[in-house]
Amino acid sequence: MDLAAVILAAGKGTRMNSKMPKVLHPVCGSPMLSYVIDAVTGAGVSKIVVVAGYGAELVSRVVEGKAELVIQEEQLGTAHALLQAGPCLKDFNGSLLVLCGDTPLIEAETLVRLVEKHRSAEVAATVLTAEIEDPTGYGRIIRDEQGKIFKIVEQKDASLAEELVQEVNTGIYCFNVNGLFDVLKQITDANAQGEYYLTDAISIYARCGQRVGSVAIKDPREFTGINDRVQMADAEQYLRGRVLEGLMRAGVTIVDPRSTFVDREALVGRDTVLRPFTIVEGNTVIGEDCIIGPGSRLADAIVGNGVVIQSSLVIDSFIGDNSVVGPFAYLRPGTKLGQGVKVGDFVEIKKSYIGDGSKVPHLSYVGDATVGKKVNIGAGTITCNYDGENKWPTIIGDGAFIGSNTNLVAPVEVGNEAVTGAGSTITKNIPSGALGIERSKQVMVKHWSIRKRKSKD
Ligand code: UD1
Ligand code: CA
Repeated sequence: MDLAAVILAAGKGTRMNSKMPKVLHPVCGSPMLSYVIDAVTGAGVSKIVVVAGYGAELVSRVVEGKAELVIQEEQLGTAHALLQAGPCLKDFNGSLLVLCGDTPLIEAETLVRLVEKHRSAEVAATVLTAEIEDPTGYGRIIRDEQGKIFKIVEQKDASLAEELVQEVNTGIYCFNVNGLFDVLKQITDANAQGEYYLTDAISIYARCGQRVGSVAIKDPREFTGINDRVQMADAEQYLRGRVLEGLMRAGVTIVDPRSTFVDREALVGRDTVLRPFTIVEGNTVIGEDCIIGPGSRLADAIVGNGVVIQSSLVIDSFIGDNSVVGPFAYLRPGTKLGQGVKVGDFVEIKKSYIGDGSKVPHLSYVGDATVGKKVNIGAGTITCNYDGENKWPTIIGDGAFIGSNTNLVAPVEVGNEAVTGAGSTITKNIPSGALGIERSKQVMVKHWSIRKRKSKD
């Protein structure tokens, strides 16, 4: 039987105090809405509809290719939100999961359990419920003497007795789509908040003799919605723990999980060690047998096997096998290191290719350069790639030796096996095998220090 999902995500999320819609705020590097989309996908849905409102344009970019988007122009309540998905589901006959976009901790298995119970019990609707210590703010589940749910009461509409009920509505449901939209149309906004409550669907079913079932959630944390940035930080911490645990079980050593941060989309190979104070962001991929950190940040980096990165920043760059980076290196976007490359301390590399076995060991800036194999770039070497208006390339051939403190004024080319004299400002191409040297002759002033001392007396 077919399964679809509607994710309600039209609210602004006022308590986030943000310009961005709540469901797009990232948790462990991914927007919270993506977690919900992944959970329903994992539960086996064949169709997902996201109801967006505030910031719908931004939301549409995140759901593109994964879900259909419908717009709820005015946020008149959860029932009204679900109604907007009606046209997308008119040819659909199966079970429908309904949940909110701000619950990134929800797991696919929980949804599967809800759907299975819903189907086996042959009911019209099944509510995922939770028994919690402090039910404040949630809709209360109200049952009759036989224990059957006959309504859900929102906090603001609850009587004193109803307020004491500790079984709450998680806001996650499974419905038979047949008949659901007719029920939704009967819902009114005659309540304390003047909203069209989706929860009223339950009492309508009960009144017309349709059966409503329930499934209790195992871990109440899964349904806690994120309403503000304090709750978001809590969720971040919890999800980070899940990500790190997954990596450790897959063979990654994480020396100190409390000071290690890995985004959900990142991949790390077996026997790689993540040392403390390391941050792995975005779509970073790290190979096997690497040592990353301490104190490194990698964002959207591709790292081969056997790489060592210490106290460095690597952004949108590629690092070949067995290369060594840092300490205190900065690889900026568009950098590609071949195999066995060494990039040492206080080196910045931008949009450059460094060939196999080459070394940039200390205090250099290499930008817009193509460097061959087995090149040595001496300490303090700078590519002068920018003339104030344009960026220009530098090309260095295989086996070249760049003397310390060379300025390479681009565009310029240094041939294979060519050498630059230390301290030279190179403005002309150096042919293969040649020495390019640019510096004035050294002058010797005899007895200079004795004369200086005497002049002070
Ligand atoms: C809702 C439930 C409550 C449940 C709680 C669980 C209702 C009436 N109440 O309350 O029983 O305990 O969730 O968290 O459903 N939304 C829209 N359009 C709207 C209104 C809401 O898309 O017009 C979306 C919001 O973006 C949000 C979700 O629906 O993601 C929940 O809406 P909210 O108003 O926060 O409902 P709660 O008061 O939390
Ligand atoms: Ca809420």
